[in-house]
Amino acid sequence: MPVRTLLHRMVAIAALFTVAACHVGGIKRPALVTPANVALGDSLFNTGGCQRCHGKGGVGAANAPALDGKKWVQLNTGSFDEIVKIITEGVPQAAIKDPTHKFAMRPRGGPMNLTDPQVKAVAAYVWTLTHK
Ligand code: HEC
Repeated sequence: MPVRTLLHRMVAIAALFTVAACHVGGIKRPALVTPANVALGDSLFNTGGCQRCHGKGGVGAANAPALDGKKWVQLNTGSFDEIVKIITEGVPQAAIKDPTHKFAMRPRGGPMNLTDPQVKAVAAYVWTLTHK
């Protein structure tokens, strides 16, 4: 086979491996995890209601678990979409798994009343806590 064809095939195979490698382990950065969203999310999380239960920087506190992903209580994989969903819907009292957590997590941060773009910004920040 001509050398050019061979080269083209090798490039195609290398490209396939690169795409596969990026998907293994879910290390692909979600499109909405932008520096601007992470900065906005950081400020909403750490000055708003989230830190009152989850601690500054999401290290965990009496009323809510750490968000460091070592052991998720509610989430399965800690994916960006899962984080968006739990912030949007909250965790009703009856769904709380660890009985030391006394208060329900309200949808959209309760009084913070986060808009969809703000929910996504907070989710981007929370996502970075487990993807340094
Ligand atoms: C009133 C306290 C409270 C506030 C405020 C609160 N949470 Fe929560 N959060 C909880 C509780 C309780 C759980 C579920 C823990 C359980 O099931 O034992 C939880 C679970 C979570 C989880 C899933 C953690 C896991 O281990 O699966 C995420 C992510 C999360 N909260 C993010 C946030 C964000 C972001 C905010 C701010 C918008 C916020 N929370 C505000 C109490 C709170």
